[in-house]
Amino acid sequence: MFGDKKVVFSGVQPSGNLTIGNYLGAIRNFGAFSEQYHCYYCVVDMHAITVRQNPAELRRRTYETLALYIACGLDPQKNTLFVQSHVPQHAELGWILDCYTMFGELSRMTQFKDKSAKNADNINAGLFTYPSLMAADILLYQTELVPVGVDQKQHLELARDIANRFNQIYGETFVVPDGYISKDGAKIMSLQDPIKKMSKSDPNENAVVRILDSKDDIIRKFKRAVTDSDNKIVRAEGKEGITNLLNIYTCFTNKTPEEAEREFAGMGYGDFKLAVGETCADALASVREEFAKLMADKAYLESVMAQGAQDAYKNARRTMSKVRRKVGFTELKF
Ligand code: TRP
Repeated sequence: MFGDKKVVFSGVQPSGNLTIGNYLGAIRNFGAFSEQYHCYYCVVDMHAITVRQNPAELRRRTYETLALYIACGLDPQKNTLFVQSHVPQHAELGWILDCYTMFGELSRMTQFKDKSAKNADNINAGLFTYPSLMAADILLYQTELVPVGVDQKQHLELARDIANRFNQIYGETFVVPDGYISKDGAKIMSLQDPIKKMSKSDPNENAVVRILDSKDDIIRKFKRAVTDSDNKIVRAEGKEGITNLLNIYTCFTNKTPEEAEREFAGMGYGDFKLAVGETCADALASVREEFAKLMADKAYLESVMAQGAQDAYKNARRTMSKVRRKVGFTELKF
């Protein structure tokens, strides 16, 4: 707790264009916390370099991710929006927590195993210690609640273990955070292979709908979505394609699955897919417009970055001075 509000923290990597799964499962829900919590939403560029990045592209995506946060409804006056590498305490605490994280624990992380399989020529130490940097992100701000997708659950458990371990050795230092795992986005499946989760790095573009796709692209992708051959628009096992489309529709319209099934009863698959595509494209139209406006105003984005970093820095510093004292570092007196 800082001041009188509990803290929410989450991060998004500035790599790859985010999907409607990221939107429905994470970013869309971030804004709702700001009344009750002090919210930090971070663009985690230091995590991004655990896989090789093109520097110009990383810089551009960092601006884009910040713009997307704002376009998705996060008001910089009500939320602390900032870039991870602008606040050096993330790296500082990351190193310290590395020394309280076990090799065995990191070896068990499924994301590490997946990513090292995909980047076999670059299994670097940062990829391995990624979860302790993530723990540092969270613990620096005495975070109570971390809204993330299900794929981050294991990392979050590890952050809790690290916090508990540190607290046990040195006395209460960190708040032990809880995850807030939204069910919506977890269920957004690939349009081409609906038993697989929709992934931003899927090589098949038709499988993935991105937040910033044009209306035409969105509709085309939905039209090509894989379905089945029995022409019934209902949720059922063996009908993963239709179930997925119904789910996407209900997420965007806030209707119940029963309402959606009733609405589409008797309709052909072609018309149904078009309807879902249009609903999705229309729901994202304002995000796209706002994003374009923001990207045209770099100076504004830079002012948000500066304000966010300053605010984050202040609070990160407080945790760091506590941590430095606890582990036995000497104080530098000028
Ligand atoms: N690892 C997260 C992801 O890939 C991003 C992230 C980094 C994060 N630090 C975080 C999420 C802290 C929540 C809290 O999605």
